[in-house]
Amino acid sequence: MSVDIFRKPMHCYILLSIWILLLVGGVYKFLEPKPKYSTSSIGTDQFHNLVFDVKTKRIFKICNLPGDIKSGNEGFKSKQWSLKGVLVLIRHGDRGPLQHVTNISYINCGYEEWNTHLKLYQEYLHNLTVLGKISWIGPGSFHGFPVLPTHMTQCQIGQLTMQGIVQLLKLGHILRESYVGIWQKLFNLSHSEVVVYSTRYRRTFQSALAFLYTFITGDTLSKVTILESQSMSFCFKDCGCPIADTFYRSLRKHITKQLFSHPAVALLSETTGRITFSVGAEQGLLGADPHSVRDALLTYICHSSSLPCNSLHNCVNRRNVAGIFSYTDWVNHQKWGNVNWRRYCLLKSYGLIKHIVSQMLHMVSNSGPYLILYSGHDHTLEQLSTALGLQNDPHLLRYAGRIIIEVYNNNLQLLNGARDVYFRILSNGKDVTRQVYFCKELLNVRQDVTLCRIEDIVRFIHDDYFTSLNFTNFKDSCVIKNV
Ligand SMILES: *[C@@H]1O[C@H](CO)[C@@H](O)[C@H](O)[C@H]1NC(C)=O
Ligand SMILES: *[C@@H]1O[C@H](CO)[C@@H](O)[C@H](O)[C@H]1NC(C)=O
Ligand SMILES: *[C@@H]1O[C@H](CO)[C@@H](O)[C@H](O)[C@H]1NC(C)=O
Ligand SMILES: *[C@@H]1O[C@H](CO)[C@@H](O)[C@H](O)[C@H]1NC(C)=O
Repeated sequence: MSVDIFRKPMHCYILLSIWILLLVGGVYKFLEPKPKYSTSSIGTDQFHNLVFDVKTKRIFKICNLPGDIKSGNEGFKSKQWSLKGVLVLIRHGDRGPLQHVTNISYINCGYEEWNTHLKLYQEYLHNLTVLGKISWIGPGSFHGFPVLPTHMTQCQIGQLTMQGIVQLLKLGHILRESYVGIWQKLFNLSHSEVVVYSTRYRRTFQSALAFLYTFITGDTLSKVTILESQSMSFCFKDCGCPIADTFYRSLRKHITKQLFSHPAVALLSETTGRITFSVGAEQGLLGADPHSVRDALLTYICHSSSLPCNSLHNCVNRRNVAGIFSYTDWVNHQKWGNVNWRRYCLLKSYGLIKHIVSQMLHMVSNSGPYLILYSGHDHTLEQLSTALGLQNDPHLLRYAGRIIIEVYNNNLQLLNGARDVYFRILSNGKDVTRQVYFCKELLNVRQDVTLCRIEDIVRFIHDDYFTSLNFTNFKDSCVIKNV
């Protein structure tokens, strides 16, 4: 296990400062033009990939390559506890960059392994959409959306890649295996027992389909309608909240100020951005945000492509990548502790948490649905995690990341009529229930299984949700005061 220096802010800050001093040296070295006649450096420039090792392991985790998607602690076998239902929140799979990047046509966004599963899925979709051999309830309001990425190997701006499809197929597959012998219902779900929401993006819609194909099988999938969420936060009826944007702006201001006080990082980000982004006018602007640079670099890193170079053969190197990632990880860690961020997430996630609670109650009252899928974005996962009080996990925001909520019934409940119902939360396969701050009495079933009473989350959403904002309801909390 690597030592996680980002857990201790102060310690980390000192280390970061030392590291920034070292970095400055590196940055200037990196800006030096290469000797003109050195044939070796020009030739090798184009072939330096980021190699997987102890130091870069953290970075590759974000890619979440299909081979790294393994079963976690989802589901547990017990005579006393029966699994009533499951809520799944996923981030879409691997996608192309959000902006134009250098040499994108040389990057291979396809995926070679797991080919038989992918082929079968392609055939299924072909039967479904082209041949009409399987009758399909239909894509609902996603009518007209392609069900697969339009290119097999080419990276497209903002679009899911074939690697992304394989990630979701794999995720559905391993989760289904996790529930064998634990959740019988999964193997006999009717279409009315499954509810699926996706944001209105191709990448989330396509991710939802691929996930469901292996998780509930193609038979059930063809009878399910995909519902649209108009918001990335899945806020349902509780969306508009002007003060949330005010909180967000304060946070942004703070983050920008932080970058100003780290000029070496700002310079690193700008020079790296200049090489990475390919559209002239935007290079400087995008490079000014280390988070944009980080996102763009993932396009090379997650597809084993060599890091980008400019026409003068100045290349982004391993140290630059490490610098951008350390800094952005550190900013995210700081953000997690920022009060404006927490308030923002609380307000943004209210609609979703309210929806989750009502679904939990349907599950325990045996009316169903029993499987809810929300197909969303990194923002969705991080806002919900923050609102629930979960600790910052630097690997949370990986492609095809997952948060799963399981609802359990105690079969040995007392005969006083009260229902003994619980839930647990897993973040990328790890039980994080004990981090949920409103859970009063946690039940440790075993080392990796903790349960929280559903009563606690019901009380939270009805009585305590807005306490930290000094209000009692969403509407009042959202009004901008003293302006
Ligand atoms: C793109 O990559 C090719 C092959 O690696 C290389 O010849 C070319 O110079 C690169 N273009 C840019 C703008 O870096
Ligand atoms: C597609 O349809 C053909 C012909 O009906 C069938 O043999 C095949 O199994 C189907 N494939 C999938 C993946 O559903
Ligand atoms: C599947 O569900 C149907 C109706 O919901 C039920 O009649 C049937 O017995 C179930 N099959 C299994 C194997 O549980
Ligand atoms: C709520 O009230 C407390 C005490 O008066 C204050 O410190 C805190 O800043 C208030 N919170 C908000 C969100 O206004």
